[in-house]
Amino acid sequence: MMPDPSDPHDDGLCIPEVGEHSKYKHHFIARYIHAFTTSMKNQKWAGLYYIDLFAGAGIERLRTSRKLDWGSPMLAARSKDPFTRLYLCERDAEKCDALRQRVTQVRPDSHIVQGDAENHAESIVADVPMGGLSLAFLDPYGLHLKLSTLRVLCRRRTDLVIFFPDRMDALRNWAAYYFDNPDSNLDNCLGADVDWRSRLGGCLPEKRGEVLRDLYKSQIQSQLNCPYVDFERIKTIKGAPLYYLIFCSRHQFGLKLWQGTSRKKPNGQSTFSFDDDTGQE
Ligand SMILES: C[S@@+](CC[C@H](N)C(=O)[O-])C[C@H]1O[C@@H](n2cnc3c(N)ncnc32)[C@H](O)[C@@H]1O
Repeated sequence: MMPDPSDPHDDGLCIPEVGEHSKYKHHFIARYIHAFTTSMKNQKWAGLYYIDLFAGAGIERLRTSRKLDWGSPMLAARSKDPFTRLYLCERDAEKCDALRQRVTQVRPDSHIVQGDAENHAESIVADVPMGGLSLAFLDPYGLHLKLSTLRVLCRRRTDLVIFFPDRMDALRNWAAYYFDNPDSNLDNCLGADVDWRSRLGGCLPEKRGEVLRDLYKSQIQSQLNCPYVDFERIKTIKGAPLYYLIFCSRHQFGLKLWQGTSRKKPNGQSTFSFDDDTGQE
């Protein structure tokens, strides 16, 4: 069978290997990119911008099936209704080189920087015109996205899709590493004013993921002026909860768009078959 030219292929550049569940993340971001660019293209905006501060290499290999998947920046670069410009940041030199080669074949006008997301957020946002509308995807490996970086992104009208690793990081590490450190990754992620220590200590273990998610949600709403927040639970292919994708928008229309696209789950159905969230891994 001839390979489909719209599928990624092994081009000899860096291809990070990731958990099979990454395909769920790509499913949701791909659908939102499509809905966002399609429905916003003829509106009043001074351009549509895509920001990806933890961009990866552009192609990922799913560990179990060995399949290749387009990474988030390539999903944005290949969008049928194009973004005005893409802003991509990746810290790892080899991945960034692969990212640059792949993305510039499709969108040579993209702004791609190698370095730390936190250090580059200011200059990226300053380049986006005031009247532009942005979609920012923030997808680190763990609790490495500071609330202060989100504050910078929110200087422009921006819909945010955020990886929030409650099970993959926060609940694995809070007692051993974060509890006694007032400058921990969890404090920087939620914001220094959040008393997560007493909230986690005082609730049932199986409820801790939801407690953290709701604390984060209320911080986003109050600190970032993004009242419209929704979330999608991402699990392993066996159904163990891993993290949330959190969607945030300043406008109700953004939320409706997200809810419309996220209704369709990666298995083709309108709900996941494994929607219990007991915290068992
Ligand atoms: C989960 S991967 C991103 C995957 C990508 N969103 C996709 O769908 O293909 C996270 C990436 O962030 C990069 N990274 C980690 N810390 C970073 C930082 N502080 N600044 C920029 N990139 C970082 C890692 O090298 C890794 O490539």
